[in-house]
Amino acid sequence: MSIGTRDRSPGPVGADGPLTGGPPRPVAAVEATTDQNPADGGGTVPPPLRVAVVGLGWAGRSIWLPRLRASPWFTVTAAVDRDEGARAGLAAADPDVRLLASPADLPPGKVDLAVVAVPNHLHAPVAADLLTAGIPVFLEKPVCLSVAEADRLASAERAGGAVLLAGSAARHRADVRRLYDVVGSCGTVRHIDVSWVRARGVPDAGGWFTSRQLAGGGALVDLGWHLLDTVTPLLGTDRFARVLGATSADFVRERSRGAAWRHAAAGASPAAPVTTAGAGDVEDTARGLLVTDRGVSVWLRASWASHQSRDVTLIRVEGSAATVELRCTFGFSPNRLGGSTLTYTRQGDTVRLHVPDEPVGAEYARQLDALPGLLADPASRGRAVEDARQAAYAVERLYRSTDHRPPTDRQHPTDRQHPPARPARPGAVATSDA
Ligand SMILES: NC(=O)c1ccc[n+]([C@@H]2O[C@H](COP(=O)([O-])OP(=O)(O)OC[C@H]3O[C@@H](n4cnc5c(N)ncnc54)[C@H](O)[C@@H]3O)[C@@H](O)[C@H]2O)c1
Repeated sequence: MSIGTRDRSPGPVGADGPLTGGPPRPVAAVEATTDQNPADGGGTVPPPLRVAVVGLGWAGRSIWLPRLRASPWFTVTAAVDRDEGARAGLAAADPDVRLLASPADLPPGKVDLAVVAVPNHLHAPVAADLLTAGIPVFLEKPVCLSVAEADRLASAERAGGAVLLAGSAARHRADVRRLYDVVGSCGTVRHIDVSWVRARGVPDAGGWFTSRQLAGGGALVDLGWHLLDTVTPLLGTDRFARVLGATSADFVRERSRGAAWRHAAAGASPAAPVTTAGAGDVEDTARGLLVTDRGVSVWLRASWASHQSRDVTLIRVEGSAATVELRCTFGFSPNRLGGSTLTYTRQGDTVRLHVPDEPVGAEYARQLDALPGLLADPASRGRAVEDARQAAYAVERLYRSTDHRPPTDRQHPTDRQHPPARPARPGAVATSDA
């Protein structure tokens, strides 16, 4: 059968209509985050939400502040960073913004949303304190580093009555949304391949990103979190039950493998550490196999650096009736594929589907546009924590399945004695390894 590259729009469902087989299209989170905005529907335009940006590093200054300033739905009224230099940098650019050294100084009742972009180990503590104080939080990824932290966020949400929303930018990419639509025509999802492999892109080697204590891990909690978050809507109510993974660190200490764009970008944090070689105790690559309680398998790979020449993100969903595959580049790296390619394969026939072009970073503005609606929706309560719990479980389990020592110090596996493999039970339903 031919491998065609016909462009088809609006997609392969066409005359056939959706296939039978109950494809899991549990895309509530996706559907809740369309391009709609609070002004739609002909009502009166609400006043802009008063936002505090907590963490004025690369993400705060390069991703969120410019988009918040450009949006009619928000007004930045406060900014928080413990670093004086970071605050001073903003004071010059934005004299009307109230500058604070600690999130605890944010006055409840005067802030409608805190956008939190601090180092990973502070995500759960900072967000939990804000939520407990009744301040809604939009929290960068990784939302938390453990299931225990997810529980802490859930308690804080309940205690303060404020909602937690999570950074889920990749779900808002036009190509990923198109993939979500097409999955409905693939039958029952059986397997998902998901990977984000950079050629060179270790963030801030020698800074907190490559410190296990401060980041909670390496490429897995960074790129891998985006991948897990993208996969979650495809799995619906399935929960990961078995996780097995391996990590390696062949590039993390090489200066030439750094994510140079973070420092080249205008607005990079004055507080951001200078990239240095020779530091870091986290993995630059994580590979894992995750199996849900209903037997759907996910093969995941996250790499900050590799032998390939371009930064490539792949999502392939294999269903009972068809396969859909997206090749693109997530994130802001300039070392990208020329565009996104979405293909649909059924009965030996592969067609290329139309994917709208969009500027790099469009998904972040799209996610911001969705926030007012999510804040106003009572169904948002607890949803981000639930998704984060699933991702944190996968991260914890994957790391636990390795031997916990820094990947750079590990013996080669062939040097170790392995326990005898358990006999496989063909067709067995996965059970928890907890
Ligand atoms: N969604 C994405 O694509 C994306 C991209 C980059 C970073 N991020 C996430 O954003 C977060 C921040 O990353 P970054 O690259 O901006 O890091 P960064 O090191 O550049 O900035 C972190 C900032 O937080 C400040 N900070 C530290 N502790 C603080 C505290 N207790 N209160 C207030 N401020 C504090 C630091 O002084 C620094 O200015 C990370 O969790 C990262 O994973 C997400």
